[in-house]
Amino acid sequence: MRTVLVTGATSGIGEACVKKFATEGYRIIGLGRNEKQLEKVRTDALSYGAPECRTFSINLRYVAEVAELFRSLNDIEVIDAIINSAGIAYQRIIDEITIEEWEEVMCINLTAPVAIIKAALPWLRKSNNPSVINISSIAGRSRSISLGCHYTTSKAAVIGMTRHLAGELGPQGIRVNCTAPSQTHTPMLDAALSKESQDLLATKVPLKRLGTAEEQADVIFFLCTPAASYINGAIVDVNGGLL
Ligand SMILES: NC(=O)c1ccc[n+]([C@@H]2O[C@H](COP(=O)([O-])OP(=O)(O)OC[C@H]3O[C@@H](n4cnc5c(N)ncnc54)[C@H](OP(=O)(O)O)[C@@H]3O)[C@@H](O)[C@H]2O)c1
Repeated sequence: MRTVLVTGATSGIGEACVKKFATEGYRIIGLGRNEKQLEKVRTDALSYGAPECRTFSINLRYVAEVAELFRSLNDIEVIDAIINSAGIAYQRIIDEITIEEWEEVMCINLTAPVAIIKAALPWLRKSNNPSVINISSIAGRSRSISLGCHYTTSKAAVIGMTRHLAGELGPQGIRVNCTAPSQTHTPMLDAALSKESQDLLATKVPLKRLGTAEEQADVIFFLCTPAASYINGAIVDVNGGLL
């Protein structure tokens, strides 16, 4: 049985990943905070075809809890894929960003994925096709059109972290890749851009629409399959051609 661990499983791209991997028969380990949504993740994953789904409520602001969570997975031998989808964003100009908020964004978007990867290594090392997918952003490729400097910086750092770990873990057979989505229909986007701004932005995308969480999840899934066995350290733009 293949096993995937998804952070941010309760919403948006992470939730779409749960659906995709469950449909493909993976056991799901889903992380999020919202208990009600976690219950839905469990029910949905099983109905999509997952042989098992375990969910954990964890606030990734407290990264020390990550190691504890992995200790509770001791009866699971192998984890084949880690999807680091949890993320936060604030629309703020630099004058308004407090250092506390800066640290919060860095913690959820950058430190927590590193903590998850670090804790998962013993499980990944037992897989015959281990894979880590981080989620950067078009913002990390250049800069955000709506979100704060902390968000852009964290997403640029995710690219550096991905490339570095691809080099370090590649010799152990663990592939580390990253997607860079452009604006994608999820609750995060609705919080960041009004419907009017989304419609305007869509006209600037060569494909003339914004992406869906399912389109992001399809690429993430592909990167975890043996068909992507020579893709390591890649930053895969999933952006409809928007540069
Ligand atoms: N949507 C876009 O346009 C877009 C574009 C580029 C990149 N991205 C990136 O894609 C990833 C997924 O984004 P999304 O659009 O799917 O966002 P979303 O719908 O807002 O979902 C965010 C997820 O992160 C989890 N999360 C947030 N803070 C957390 C915390 N402190 N501890 C644990 N979990 C936490 C949430 O869990 P709870 O709800 O349970 O708290 C939720 O499951 C993010 O890394 C984002 O930066 C998104």
